[in-house]
Amino acid sequence: MTKKRVVLAYSGGLDTSVAVHWLGEKLDADVIALSVDVGQGGNPEALRSKALQSGAVDALVVDARSEMAEGFVAPAIRANGLYEGKYPLVSSLSRPVIVKHLVAAARRTGAEAVAHGCTGKGNDQVRFEVGTRALAPDLEILAPARIWGMTRQDCVVYAERNEIPVDATNEKIYSIDENLWGRAIECGQMEDPWEATPEDAYVLTRPTAREPTEIVIEFEHGLPVSIDGRPLALYELISEMTSVVGSYGWGRIDMVENRRVGIKSREAYECPAALAILLAHRDLEDLTLERDVAHEKLRLESRWAELVYDGMWFSPLKEALDAFVSSTQQHVTGEVRLRMVPGSAGRSEHGEPPVGSAALGSAAVAGRRSPVSLYEHDLATYGPGDAFRHDDAEGFVTLFGLGIATWAARQGGREIRGDRDGSRR
Ligand code: ARG
Repeated sequence: MTKKRVVLAYSGGLDTSVAVHWLGEKLDADVIALSVDVGQGGNPEALRSKALQSGAVDALVVDARSEMAEGFVAPAIRANGLYEGKYPLVSSLSRPVIVKHLVAAARRTGAEAVAHGCTGKGNDQVRFEVGTRALAPDLEILAPARIWGMTRQDCVVYAERNEIPVDATNEKIYSIDENLWGRAIECGQMEDPWEATPEDAYVLTRPTAREPTEIVIEFEHGLPVSIDGRPLALYELISEMTSVVGSYGWGRIDMVENRRVGIKSREAYECPAALAILLAHRDLEDLTLERDVAHEKLRLESRWAELVYDGMWFSPLKEALDAFVSSTQQHVTGEVRLRMVPGSAGRSEHGEPPVGSAALGSAAVAGRRSPVSLYEHDLATYGPGDAFRHDDAEGFVTLFGLGIATWAARQGGREIRGDRDGSRR
């Protein structure tokens, strides 16, 4: 009988390295390790040899950085994708990219199953599996980390016993997921939501900048296309923003989030580029979107983010919302000026001075302009040249308040007016 052939989504981390070996040992499977470069850094060759050393029969590496940027991060920018208003969907966006390549590799190699290294407690299992079922309902899906019953510590021991290479000690303390849109950090002492996230958990947002700076981000149809007049591919633009904004120690998120599987978890993220780009994009929308469109978009954005978070990237509702968002972005074109201020002068978003050893800086929008701006100076000004027709306001306000005036006369408003007896007229 031929062996079962499995394509495993391989990150090179502890769980997937153990998974390569475990699938071979327990299921007698031939494991093809597939690593998808979504901008997490690291050396593809090293990843390949690590997979082979861990027991894979073959190891494939796909460079999907541009695809991740253009096909997955771009819609998230246009939709201002923030789960629960805070988390820019870092891991949620990379999973459908990986799923696409996992399914393609399974087809190419004739594998009958795909596998992932996610545990049963997280969102990523949902994203991998629902995504795979949307694209290839016939493929079997294996989730070794959900059934092997090992703790993180057990995995470290398993790895040592089976000569599976495991990286730096940090990998044992924190569970990290990284891509070009940011970095997610879990585990360690952060599992106590009262404990501050240790400074050493942060890598992209170490505050090293000493001087304030300004950059101008240009957007076309809702997507950033240049920094300070230099046109850049989206992938490069995001990388540059990560280093510039990150050097101010700005872009950290510390939150308790609601996972799809029903548990609350404490998460730390560093997403300097994502938060800065979303800040700028939303600001440009304020300038260029008509009011009703802006308000309706705001309502649908949280639904969009929820769908993506929940692993419904490949779903008809997500597709329909994308079409709506797309139509809103036609005139989101223009420039936003971002100002970054370093260290001790920086204030947190609540205005307190920085806490602890790291003096975190700040980033904020300093200005915006657009050739299709809906801001009309002559209508807005309180100075000379005011073109607003003040007389029109009187009739407008009277009719706008007519219903309330009627209500006040017949039914309500008596206590507020100070009427004592409350008698009806
Ligand atoms: N909680 C985030 C999400 O569900 C991140 C998950 C991956 N994080 C990690 N450190 N492995 O999207």
